[in-house]
Amino acid sequence: MDLTHKTVLVIGATGALGSLIANTLAERGATVVGTARSNESAARLPASLGQSLLLDCEDPASVHALAAYLVERPEPLDGIINAAGIVGFGTAEATTAADALRLMTVNHLAPAELISRVLPRLAESAAAGREPVIVGITGIVSEQAFPGMSAYVASKTAHAAWLRALALEIRRHKVRVLDAHPGHTETGLTGRAVFGAAPAFPAGMTAEHVVSVIVSAIVADETTLASERFTA
Ligand SMILES: NC(=O)c1ccc[n+]([C@@H]2O[C@H](COP(=O)([O-])OP(=O)(O)OC[C@H]3O[C@@H](n4cnc5c(N)ncnc54)[C@H](OP(=O)(O)O)[C@@H]3O)[C@@H](O)[C@H]2O)c1
Repeated sequence: MDLTHKTVLVIGATGALGSLIANTLAERGATVVGTARSNESAARLPASLGQSLLLDCEDPASVHALAAYLVERPEPLDGIINAAGIVGFGTAEATTAADALRLMTVNHLAPAELISRVLPRLAESAAAGREPVIVGITGIVSEQAFPGMSAYVASKTAHAAWLRALALEIRRHKVRVLDAHPGHTETGLTGRAVFGAAPAFPAGMTAEHVVSVIVSAIVADETTLASERFTA
């Protein structure tokens, strides 16, 4: 995929990975539309964005409003990169259904809803030969379970499975799906857990390395990005 003159939506462009992805895509010639969860967090959006929008995955009205806007937006849409996510820690026994639902909503249900509503725009991009792509960052937890984070593992595995099914459904439209499975990365995400406290993790990869592998895979038209690709 040649990123020049392409328009890519980065969900979670305020985040450590999302902001670096946005900057890297912009450096490579893409127009990047990025989302922040709130007006307050929008202060962390990178200056490289061509357009800033709000999306709170915990608010169905926000998801529907952004989808409706993107469907009507006259410019082409050539990619959606979901770099939003939240984590929570605790044994399965200690995790409430409300906390598990919160992770499932932000990490799977809301991005799945948004992407589904906006698929016709990506099909249009494909029909115009613009090689659109949908990118998830479900992480190593969608390959392997870890104790003490069952709700996170479940939400990410659900999204990874959904992306696999989506890839089969939209193959005929020539819309590519790429799901990245990086392991622990030093972004500070674990310190922002929405419930529970993170166990001690061994030192993780740098955000720069992880983003470089993801963007290379986007450009190289890849459809899988297993965890070992980040450590090779
Ligand atoms: N770091 C890792 O070790 C690692 C490994 C594998 C996969 N991942 C995945 O990579 C993605 C990015 O993680 P990161 O490490 O860059 O974390 P991060 O720096 O904490 O970024 C999280 C992003 O998610 C957004 N977000 C949180 N709640 C949201 C909501 N309700 N609605 C919309 N956006 C919301 C945040 O937006 P605001 O700033 O506006 O609140 C922020 O942009 C996540 O999906 C994470 O699970 C991370």
